[in-house]
Amino acid sequence: MSDGTGEARPVEARGLVKRYGEIVAVNDVDLTVERGDVFGYLGPNGAGKTTSLRMLLGLIRPTAGEARLFGRDPLTDGARALDGVAGFVEGPRFYPYMSGRKNLRLLADLDGGHPPGRIDEVLEIVELRNRAKDRVGGYSHGMRQRLGIAASLLREPQLLLLDEPATGLDPAGMRDMRELIKRLASNGITILLSSHILAEVEELCNRVAIIRRGTIIYQGRLDALLESAASGFRIRVSDPDRALDLLNDHPGIGSVSRADGHVRFQSDEASLGAATVALGRAGIGITELVPQTTSLEELFLTMTGGETSDADSAATA
Ligand SMILES: Nc1ncnc2c1ncn2[C@@H]1O[C@H](COP(=O)(O)OP(=O)(O)OP(=O)(O)O)[C@@H](O)[C@H]1O
Ligand SMILES: [Mg+2]
Repeated sequence: MSDGTGEARPVEARGLVKRYGEIVAVNDVDLTVERGDVFGYLGPNGAGKTTSLRMLLGLIRPTAGEARLFGRDPLTDGARALDGVAGFVEGPRFYPYMSGRKNLRLLADLDGGHPPGRIDEVLEIVELRNRAKDRVGGYSHGMRQRLGIAASLLREPQLLLLDEPATGLDPAGMRDMRELIKRLASNGITILLSSHILAEVEELCNRVAIIRRGTIIYQGRLDALLESAASGFRIRVSDPDRALDLLNDHPGIGSVSRADGHVRFQSDEASLGAATVALGRAGIGITELVPQTTSLEELFLTMTGGETSDADSAATA
C-alpha cells in the first residue's frame, strides 16, 4: 500500500505504564488494533481508559512502555505520528459562542487548511448541516459529540480514537452515535473507542480489550468472549468418570471438568447434540443437562469485580 501509513498496524502498544505518584493508572498494557477493527476499550470508571488513550495520542508521556500508531511513535515522531489519526479524549472542546461551522473552519485553518467543501462534507456525515450556523453553546451534548467527530474527520483519518463517544447521551443520541460509528467503519476507518457501556460495545465492536484497575484482563475477539460467556453446560450422568474421558476426546467440547457430581464443559450447540448422542451410544445415561449461561453483562461485572465507581473510591470504601 502506498497510503503513507505502510503496512504497520493502526495501534500497537507494548508495556504501557502510567503512574501518578502512588496511583498506577495504567499498568503494563499491551494493545493491538488491526486495520478495519472497531475495537472496544471497555472498563469501569477509573480503570485507565482515558489515560491509555492520552498516551496513544502522545498527550502524556508513559512512565514506561511505548505506543506506535501506524508504526510511528507519537513521542519521538511528534505530529507526524498523528498523520491519518484523529480523535478526542474526555469530550471535544469548542468555542461556545461560535457556530459549529466557524469552529470547524478555525480547526481547519489551524491544521493548515482543507479542501473547499470538506467542512460541508463532514457536517453532512455527522448530520449537523442544518444546525451548522447555530452557536455551539446551544448544542445538545449529542450534537457536540458529533461535532467532535466532524472535527476529527476534517483530517481524513484512517484511525479514529474516541473516548466514550456515547457516554451521557440519551437513547436516541446513543443510537445516532452508534449509526455514525458504523458508517465510518464501513467507509474503512479503523476505530478504537472506549466505553463502559457494554451494549454499545456489543453492537459495534469486533474486538475488545477489557481493562480493570489499569490492567488488561481480556483482549481478543468479542464473539469468542461472548461464546465463553454463554456456552457452558453442566450434566449429571450415570458414569461421570467415563463421561469425562469421552467429553475430553470429543470434538467441539472444551474445558471439561468435574464438580460435585456434575461434569461441566463448554460447547456450541452442534457439538452439544453430537456429544449427548455419543454419551448415549456409550451407554452413559444423562439425567440432567443444564446450560450455564452467563450474560456478557454478568461476565463483565465478574471480570471487573463489579466496580461501579472509581477504583480509588472503591478501594477506600
Ligand atoms: N492527571 C492525573 N493525576 C492523578 N491521577 C490521575 C490523573 N489522571 C488519571 N488519574 C487516575 O488514574 C486512574 C485512571 O483514570 P482514567 O481517567 O484513565 O480512567 P477512565 O477509565 O478513563 O475512567 P472514566 O470511565 O471515569 O472516564 C484513576 O484512578 C484516576 O484518578
Ligand atoms: Mg475516561
